[in-house]
Amino acid sequence: MQNGQAKMIQVTGLRKKFGHHVVLRDVNFAFSTGEVVGLVGPNGAGKTTIMKALLGLLATDAGNVRILGQPVSANIHTVVTQQVGALIERPAIYPFLTGWQHLQLMTTSREQMTWVVQALQMEAYIHRPAKRYSLGMKQKLGIAMALVNRPRLVILDEPMNGLDPQSVKRLRHLIGQLAGEGTTFLISSHILSELEKIIDTVILIDQGEVLLQRTMAQFRESARQSLVVRTTENARALRVLLQDDYPVTQRGSDLIVTKPVVLTPLLQALLNAHIQILKVNQHREDLETVLLRLLAERKA
Ligand SMILES: Nc1ncnc2c1ncn2[C@@H]1O[C@H](COP(=O)(O)OP(=O)(O)O)[C@@H](O)[C@H]1O
Ligand SMILES: [Mg+2]
Repeated sequence: MQNGQAKMIQVTGLRKKFGHHVVLRDVNFAFSTGEVVGLVGPNGAGKTTIMKALLGLLATDAGNVRILGQPVSANIHTVVTQQVGALIERPAIYPFLTGWQHLQLMTTSREQMTWVVQALQMEAYIHRPAKRYSLGMKQKLGIAMALVNRPRLVILDEPMNGLDPQSVKRLRHLIGQLAGEGTTFLISSHILSELEKIIDTVILIDQGEVLLQRTMAQFRESARQSLVVRTTENARALRVLLQDDYPVTQRGSDLIVTKPVVLTPLLQALLNAHIQILKVNQHREDLETVLLRLLAERKA
């Protein structure tokens, strides 16, 4: 590392083809230590491929990966083995070893093994052979193996897959706790709503490209706000509001004002026309909707 301010991850110009199929077009992103970053995008977007490239598990066609300022490629893994814990797709599980023995493959620290087993609530089955584990139990073991060494960077590919709601909650809590202690996370999911509670930054991937990288605060700002109004005479109310140049449309039995507006003059216009107002609601798009809209706008 050349200086103390090296980015945790810096990816430039990453490209990858499988045969003629271009999977990564030109992937660029960077983020700092201590961030919890979500890699979000539809199935087949390239999330797993990016993560494999970050770990040096894949020979890429072009581009550079640096972790903590040090290069990573299919031939160079020093920083990965020393600083990174990862779970990519399915965990590699030896059927005849117990969960505990899998953890022993990762560390000699009994204390850390005990910590991670408790943190993920695996006490009941950790000494059973892994061939008897359910999908969710295997998934948790894979996550435990990624975390047990307390690496500085943790890369988790769709970690919530197969977990029950309680385990998802626990994992979220654990990620939050470790992030608070300075661990950096890169977590992929095709479901934003799963990640939005824990991530600071979202990187949206589509068709092998980074569509956007934003902090969650910025992302929330791009949520559209609208006003839902219901009256006893929607057809007349619509005319009144259109006359006053409000951006308004009718949807079912509601009128939708599609931009944020000052409420009082709008209501006053309706009252002046002697229209009875039954309901007024502020509505804000949820983040999943924002994401789908951004993707659709791009394809249009
Ligand atoms: N080893 C491979 N050989 C051929 N195509 C692959 C291989 N791995 C991934 N792909 C293709 O690359 C694209 C991106 O895959 P992936 O990175 O797994 O997407 P995601 O994780 O976002 O769902 C998909 O179209 C997938 O079919
Ligand atoms: Mg994937």
